[in-house]
Amino acid sequence: MKINVLTLFPDMFTPLTTSMLGRGLEDGKWDLNLVDFRDFTSDVHHHVDDTPYGGGAGMVLQIMPIKKALDSLANKGKVIITAPQGKTFNQKMAQNWSQEENLTFICGHYEGFDQRIYDLADETVSIGDYVLTGGELPTMSMIDATVRLLPGILGNAASPIEESFAHGLLEYPQYTRPEDFEGMKVPAVLTSGNHQKIAEWRKKESLRATALYRPDLLADYHLSDEEKKLLAE
Ligand code: ADE
Repeated sequence: MKINVLTLFPDMFTPLTTSMLGRGLEDGKWDLNLVDFRDFTSDVHHHVDDTPYGGGAGMVLQIMPIKKALDSLANKGKVIITAPQGKTFNQKMAQNWSQEENLTFICGHYEGFDQRIYDLADETVSIGDYVLTGGELPTMSMIDATVRLLPGILGNAASPIEESFAHGLLEYPQYTRPEDFEGMKVPAVLTSGNHQKIAEWRKKESLRATALYRPDLLADYHLSDEEKKLLAE
């Protein structure tokens, strides 16, 4: 997968070059193309923004440098604008995007986009109901969530299958050594060696955690008769 990012701050993306995603980049498992759209301005001062028509505070990003930067890309793939008014990003979107050959993110910074820029994109996506100074951090979050699902990025290939949201539920609690830490004990079932009981316990805890912390997820989840029984226990 090749991901293009149009941004005024390419230096902000160094976190993606570390840890597992960084190793994936080095190994050619994915590719990151950072494009500074200021390079696509034609005026001497390299302006990318201007005052809003109709007046008002702040500046507005102009369409021309962004359109030129997009046109310079060999393969845009799906084009995504990050903005607070977009639909909220989730694991399902990360799963769908991880199947794409190419993705292109457009990041604004400090200011709004000229409305016509939204017409250049396939989707407008937010990471939550709060406003950040720019689209760079949201884009990094979305890239991380997407790229970690690509084959060979995570060490343990099974982990994205078991994790939270993968099946519409939160993940079950995990424990590791010691079995007893200052009186806080690991649930006995996990050390029982009974794999069927362990699987049942995990499903029950997963359902319970979802009901407690994210009832909205449970409302969208189709409970089997067996799961209904576990939840009622
Ligand atoms: N840009 C500024 N705030 C944002 C948010 N919450 N999500 C996506 N892009 C943004």
